[in-house]
Order: sequence, then C-alpha cells, then structure tokens
Amino acid sequence: MNILITGATGFIGSHTCVALLNEGHNLIAFDNFSNSDEKVLDHIKEISGKDFLFYNADMTDPVAMEKIFSENKIDCVIHFAGFKAVGESTQIPLAYYYNNIYGTICILKAMKAHGVKKIIFSSSATVYGKPAALPIKEDFALSATNPYGRTKLMLEEILTDLSKSDPEWSVMLLRYFNPVGAHKSGLLCENPKGIPNNLMPRILDVAFNIMPEITVFGNDYDTEDGTGVRDYIHVVDLAYGHVKAIDYVSAHTGTEAVNLGTGVGYSVLDLINTFEKVNSIKIPYVICPRRPGDIDACFADSSKAKELLNWTSELGIEDMCRDAYNAAKSIRQKE
Ligand code: WQD
Repeated sequence: MNILITGATGFIGSHTCVALLNEGHNLIAFDNFSNSDEKVLDHIKEISGKDFLFYNADMTDPVAMEKIFSENKIDCVIHFAGFKAVGESTQIPLAYYYNNIYGTICILKAMKAHGVKKIIFSSSATVYGKPAALPIKEDFALSATNPYGRTKLMLEEILTDLSKSDPEWSVMLLRYFNPVGAHKSGLLCENPKGIPNNLMPRILDVAFNIMPEITVFGNDYDTEDGTGVRDYIHVVDLAYGHVKAIDYVSAHTGTEAVNLGTGVGYSVLDLINTFEKVNSIKIPYVICPRRPGDIDACFADSSKAKELLNWTSELGIEDMCRDAYNAAKSIRQKE
C-alpha cells in the first residue's frame, strides 16, 4: 500500500516507518522537525535499505497538505504528528489545540478532497484518565486531565464522527501505553528536543551524567512499592502493531479503538532497578512529592489487539532498558 506517515521522524513514527518498509509498503512521509532531527531520515533508510518520498511540511499548512495529496496516490494515513508533552500542554494550551486539532483537520480535509478514507490515529492511554479498574479495556470511560490528553480525546471523537458521517471511512484509534526502548541498530531512539518529560529519557540523562539523579515523583501511591506503575511497551513492538493495523483497515470500515500495551505494569523503581541490572550502571534517585496529574497505576487489557489485529507484544522490560541505553550511547557517540 501507499501510506502517508505524518510525524515520520518522531520516536514512534520513525520506528513504524522501518517496520512498514520491511513489510514492502511504499511510504510518503512528512515532518516539520519540531521535535525530531532530519538525520532520522537517513537512519530509517539505512536500517530498511529502502528509500521513500519525504516532505518537510507542517500539518497546519493546508496548502502543503493539499500538495502532498495531489502529488501522490495515498491509500491510507498513519497520523503521528502532534505535540505530546503533558506538562508543556498546561503552559501553552492554545498552541496544543491549534497544532494538534487544527493540524489534524487540515489533514482530514485533504484526505476527504482526494477520496482517502483510511486513517490510523496515534492516540494514547491518557484518554482513560484515572481508570476505575485495572487492566484497562477499550470500552472504559474516557476523560482527560490536561490539554494534551484533551486533544487526543477530541481527535478520537472527531474521527469517530467523520466515520459515522461516511460509512466508507476506516478509522483505527491506537491507544499507546508507555512507549520506551529503541531499534536494536542503535540508529533510532527517543531523542526529544529540550528537557525530557518522560521517565526513560530522564533515566538516560542520569546514565550519561547530564542529570545527577532521578526525581521519583512520589512513593505513596497505592502500588506495591508506592511508586507509579505503568505499562511500558517496546517501541519496536508498538511499530509492528501499526503493520497489523494497516492490514485491518485495508479490509474493514468503521471505527475501532485498540490498546497497544503489554498488559503488565512496572513501577518506577522496577524500571530503575532493571535498567541498572541489564546495563551494569548505577542510577541514583531521590524520592520527591507526586507530580500533579499523575495516577497511581495504568496498564492495558490487550486482548482486543490479539483478537482484532492478531498482535501481542514480544519484547520485555529488560529489552526496553538494554535497547534504550545502547541506542542513546551510539547516538551520543555520533554527536
Ligand atoms: C511514568 C512514571 C511518573 C519522570 C505520559 C503521557 C502519555 C504518554 C507517555 C505521549 C510516572 C514517573 C516520570 C520522572 C518519575 N505520552 N516519573 N520521575 O506520565 O505515564 O505518560 O507519557 O503519548 O500520554 O501521559 O509517562 O514517563 O512521564 O511517567 O518518577 O522524572 O514515571 O510519576 O509514574 P506518563 P512518564
């Protein structure tokens, strides 16, 4: 298939490009490099041994979106592009709504104008808010506690309404849990610009002496060791989930939400201890107060992904820690 990848040089987008190229798909990709590096394009081509068309474009530019669709026969869109930092979204909500909502509408209008009616949307477990029970199923109540999460929730609703208005549309809402890890080549990794928000990039900052220690946000949660529990999923497993989602939307219409998680929760201290063990490196930490908006625990019921997409995660927490460190090491050595 001819697949348009938005946000193609981002953490999950770049890993998914490799997985799709390996499956023989033709890619048309764009990114505005707001949170990624142009060098990622060469790394995707080096790993896959394949070439693809790339546009340096911004999804909030309707003329650029029209150009991409008028110059290419696109069968399906995988939509990764978007701002994604929870804390930042509370400081600049307008930028998040303009970019994530208006930008997506520009893409959808170009799709509609060119009869492209298949889209896989990069959603997030954040749409579950504070879950009433665990593990989390796709039919649980949805809510958001920050502007970033609200953009994901609103976009799920916009896509669902679009699909209801035209039964020819096929919409897949992939709800990622906590993506970590990196491609074994060491050429791709989570390399956010600025100060990282998430736990694994911060562990890596400690591993490479950029930060002296990890601040553990709270050890008084209702979990085994008191620290926050999350469903960490290897980004390579996540990327392959998109390959299976492409197969599904090719053969179906309507809207489906699917959790992409391992179904296993690990605490902050579990992740730190595993990282130390597999990489033989000390990660000092200090216990600090809770981070506003954090929840105690969150992990997926991933049975629907197995039934609908025939997908399950294969890589474990040790792989995630080893691959994240190896990639960060090789990327830093090149800088
Ligand atoms: C994980 C755990 C923190 C940093 C967010 C978004 C979600 C998705 C993934 C985009 C929590 C603890 C963290 C630190 C810590 N993003 N922590 N010290 O908040 O579960 O999810 O990122 O799609 O949508 O909501 O991920 O990595 O920030 O936190 O103790 O320096 O690590 O309290 O328990 P989170 P995270």
